[in-house]
Amino acid sequence: MQPATQRPSKPLPTQPLSGVLGAEVIGTDLRDLIKQGDCTSLLDALAAHSVVVIRDQTLTASEFVELARLMGELEWHVLDQYRMKDQPEIYVISNIVENGKPIGNPKDGFGWHTDQAYLAKPTAYTLLYGVETPAEGADTLFVSTQGAYERLQAEFRQSLRGLRTIQSYLYMREGNSAYRKNNAVTTELRQDQRDRVPDVTHPLVRTNPTNGRASLYLGGDSLASIEGLEETEARALIDKLVAHTLNNDFVYSHKWQPRDVVIWDNRGTMHTATDYDRDRYRRHIWRTSVRGEVPY
Ligand SMILES: [Fe+2]
Repeated sequence: MQPATQRPSKPLPTQPLSGVLGAEVIGTDLRDLIKQGDCTSLLDALAAHSVVVIRDQTLTASEFVELARLMGELEWHVLDQYRMKDQPEIYVISNIVENGKPIGNPKDGFGWHTDQAYLAKPTAYTLLYGVETPAEGADTLFVSTQGAYERLQAEFRQSLRGLRTIQSYLYMREGNSAYRKNNAVTTELRQDQRDRVPDVTHPLVRTNPTNGRASLYLGGDSLASIEGLEETEARALIDKLVAHTLNNDFVYSHKWQPRDVVIWDNRGTMHTATDYDRDRYRRHIWRTSVRGEVPY
């Protein structure tokens, strides 16, 4: 008999959420995976569907961190003021104010992007847990960048190979007016925070090691330019590729319920937050993220 660690884990039962990406995992308590110390089945579901939704989960902060840790190396968001005090691996997104202090980032994730593309080893997986969710609004939208790449004409696709994008957190926060308009940029970065996010370059077309699929890796608001191209040429190409990626019917729109866990693979998707009535509803989301490889 094989030892337990070598036994292939049973596939999770899933139900597709759209024609292109996203699946709901049915009848699964994530605490069982945590207890078993094995999330292979979850990683397999992500390789197949890019976005997975697991409803009605009851997780403590430490269990939520434990789940992310099973998936790989945790990473820490540069905006350390929004980390949970007792569980600093968790970054909090919330409009709730306690004792005169916001408990999390009040407005984050607006504008289509992949998470932390401005890092040398950008986020592979992002995990969100809906502690409190508005009854309407605040949907999270997803689109497949793998599908976007595969829909390009072969010759044009080939011409993109070898191009590298310049990804810059400082450009995003300080030079990109769309980002400043859409997200809460209420504090200036400290020098030590600036030092943690030097500009990086990434291939415009990257491969997801979990399924071998190529995707357009645009990043989002941190995409400052394309190496070796004139500014106007770079901007025209970026605008064309962004429009192509978003101009399709293959968006999965996640409508949040309390206790939802939503996990996605940033190597094949882009996503954006949408707004809600902040005066009427409370929203409290936990987020952890798992570091990926150097994109190739
Ligand atoms: Fe995001």
